[in-house]
Amino acid sequence: MVEADVRASIGKSLRSHKRRAAESSAGALPSRVDCTSNFVYLAELKHLVGLCAWWAFKTWGKYNSAYTFTRRVESFARHCNLNEIPLTVLYIDDEGLPLGMASLRLNDGIRPDIGPWLGSVYVDPAVRARGIGTELVKEIERKARTLGYMKIYLLTYEDTLPDWYAGLGWKTIGKDVCHGNEVTVMELDLS
Ligand SMILES: CC(C)(COP(=O)(O)OP(=O)(O)OC[C@H]1O[C@@H](n2cnc3c(N)ncnc32)[C@H](O)[C@@H]1OP(=O)(O)O)[C@@H](O)C(=O)NCCC(=O)NCCS
Repeated sequence: MVEADVRASIGKSLRSHKRRAAESSAGALPSRVDCTSNFVYLAELKHLVGLCAWWAFKTWGKYNSAYTFTRRVESFARHCNLNEIPLTVLYIDDEGLPLGMASLRLNDGIRPDIGPWLGSVYVDPAVRARGIGTELVKEIERKARTLGYMKIYLLTYEDTLPDWYAGLGWKTIGKDVCHGNEVTVMELDLS
């Protein structure tokens, strides 16, 4: 399938996805969701590779124009693992609607000497501030611990996000440059 076809197909599913998310945010979802049973790994939902790539492309594409939508599809296709990295977990609501994602990968574009990296943390704008982002981060932390890692890392392009991650226990360990953009690098001790 060529890129335009992939985009058209994802656009269609996203429109229906948005419609349902808007309906959910209009009242069907509680203000804080219980996320504990709503995680499904991309390995079990391979048809959502394109959706994950689209979420990532529209959110972080501006930071690296060489990382096209097609390359992101290829990358997320490699994240279809359950118990080895790279992997991606999705938050799926009780009606089966995908509302967010987070990934764990060996490398995220800088500092090959450290890892693995939490990345691609994304929640549908219609359902933000309900705890889904926090629970996705915690799910990746649990998975990293289960896989035997003692520390995980992240980079963030936005100046405000380190405060949010600090509230989840992460510590800033420095600044770096990723594809020409200044980023904050953070770590979490899992021991
Ligand atoms: C960051 C993100 C994942 C949070 O998801 P969420 O489901 O809204 O997260 P939670 O409900 O667990 O937490 C909400 C809190 O995060 C804060 N927050 C969200 N985005 C933020 C940002 N860009 N900077 C600072 N704080 C932010 C909210 O203000 C809120 O604070 P409060 O609890 O004091 O009210 C979501 O906003 C998102 O997808 N953003 C775009 C992608 C992104 O920037 N991802 C992070 C990459 S490092």
